[in-house]
Amino acid sequence: MNDPVLQEIKDRLNIADIIGGYIQLKKAGVNFKAPCPFHNEKSPSLIISPQKQIWHCFGCGEGGDVFGFVRKYENLEFRDALKILADKAGVKLPTYKPVDQYQQDEKELLLRINAFAARYYHQVLLSKGGAEALEYLKTRGLSEATIKNWEIGFAADDFHALEKALATKKVNINELVKAGVSAKNERGQMYDRFRGRVTFPIYNYFGETVGFSARILRDDGKSAKYVNSPETAIYNKSKILFGLNFAKDAIRKKDEAVIVEGQMDCIAAHQAGFANTVASSGTALTEQQLQQLGRLTKNLKFCFDSDAAGQTASRRAGELALKNGFRLKLIILKNVKDPDELIKKSPGLWEKAISEAIWFLDYYIDLAENNFKQGSVEQKLYLSKEVVPFLGFVSDPLEQDHYVHNIATRFLISEKVIRDQIKGGLRVQGIGDSISQAQKVAPGLLLQKEVLGGLLFLPDFLAAILGKIQAQDFEDPEVGKAVSQLIAGGEQAASARQTTLAKEVLFMVESQLDELGGETDRLRRILEKSFALLKVNSLKRQQQALQSDIKAAETAGNKLRVDELNLTFANLLKERAVFENHL
Ligand code: UTP
Ligand code: MN
Repeated sequence: MNDPVLQEIKDRLNIADIIGGYIQLKKAGVNFKAPCPFHNEKSPSLIISPQKQIWHCFGCGEGGDVFGFVRKYENLEFRDALKILADKAGVKLPTYKPVDQYQQDEKELLLRINAFAARYYHQVLLSKGGAEALEYLKTRGLSEATIKNWEIGFAADDFHALEKALATKKVNINELVKAGVSAKNERGQMYDRFRGRVTFPIYNYFGETVGFSARILRDDGKSAKYVNSPETAIYNKSKILFGLNFAKDAIRKKDEAVIVEGQMDCIAAHQAGFANTVASSGTALTEQQLQQLGRLTKNLKFCFDSDAAGQTASRRAGELALKNGFRLKLIILKNVKDPDELIKKSPGLWEKAISEAIWFLDYYIDLAENNFKQGSVEQKLYLSKEVVPFLGFVSDPLEQDHYVHNIATRFLISEKVIRDQIKGGLRVQGIGDSISQAQKVAPGLLLQKEVLGGLLFLPDFLAAILGKIQAQDFEDPEVGKAVSQLIAGGEQAASARQTTLAKEVLFMVESQLDELGGETDRLRRILEKSFALLKVNSLKRQQQALQSDIKAAETAGNKLRVDELNLTFANLLKERAVFENHL
């Protein structure tokens, strides 16, 4: 990554400021320290070097430059992390093409098509042909400012209107299908996906249009009320939360997010001044969506529709939210179908409903009291089936204890029975457990990076083990690539020394040497041991793979092959014994 634009962004930013914006840092000499956000730990093993513009975790082995941190922390693609940081650095990224040029160009193109379509539909709404739709939106209480701000539009009842409007833009017709705004019938003919509908652009985190949700003007009982864009290269449904681009600052400021079901609910809430609102768009909330919210706040208030589907969605979302350490409350609607209806009655009523939200678990415990005869078997069954399992998701032991006690006294059940059921039923997960599983670190990454660092730092270490080392000993693809370049030598080795990874592992080994009081001999002995351990692990892996090959050959009755493989196996065993002696 020797791109001058990347370098400029790095130069203008201070890595400690950026990382310090996400987690709390402590000064440690010329460096900074923090508990690593990528694995569970209490004492800090994440080190940040402002001089080298590198971070590295001595606990789990993760590390890299400022782009890598933001990308990993916010769970973003490189391109999106780049955008955030370019913005912070005040560096313009005109037609920047990182990793995979074709893919990036394609994404840019799909974004442009969707942006164009949004503008086009918006203009149609404001033109003569959009009069009825505009009237409809006004009867729904949307102001002109809201319509403009969300770029709400109208797609005429015409199979080729958008296609024609886009024709002047010289885009390849197939791209319209890839962008999701057009579809193809069985005969391969293209047509506009959205027709005779009000269009709501769907924005990503950065406010770029990635798709649409389009509503019919009058429910006819036949057509779907909403037609949505399909999943595309730019629209990942499980990742996008409707309205988050407009809501993120307010969520951070208020330290609370309100999650509603429908986009109309969300837009109405924003119009009434509740800017910390997002919509799940009628689907179950996903872990990825929660993860994005978790970067902004840990306090959530759900308001799902009062129908059965809304209730099911609420329970499922609740389970995920509790598992991931959110503090969760439910906003209860009385006598209305959804927030939009309540806000239309009076924003004050909605404000009241938000402030009276009740703790997720209390809601279900109250139901036990209200819906069943006190002390009945049905009541106990409900508690054991519908409530106690949720206690297992509560990550804070004190909070869990509170609920156990509360249920025991209110319903005259012994605490032990409840505790046994929690233990037997579900594993209690720690805060962020289930999220951190998504970003699991490669096993042994630390060891692999340490050895690579040694190879780069100590020329005689490299010389000593060159004959014994193979790229396949390194499971991490990036580390493996660097090692094979070092083995190849010459120009390849020189370029392996220029990477961010090289800087990170050098920083790691230099820090180690510091701790050893600068004694290179001791460092070398440690590195030799690490290398032996790495080899043992690698040989074990190779043996496992061989074993299944041997089994396959046996089943196939290929005796010659079995003998051959057995010989290799024996050689691996011998080799392993040599390295085990060094441990
Ligand atoms: P609802 O049926 O509750 O609609 O669906 P709503 O939000 O109240 O819509 P209005 O007020 O009648 O306009 C909730 C959400 O489910 C998704 C939409 O995202 C909608 O906002 N949905 C619903 C669809 O995707 N397709 C449908 O056909 C219906
Ligand atoms: Mn509604």
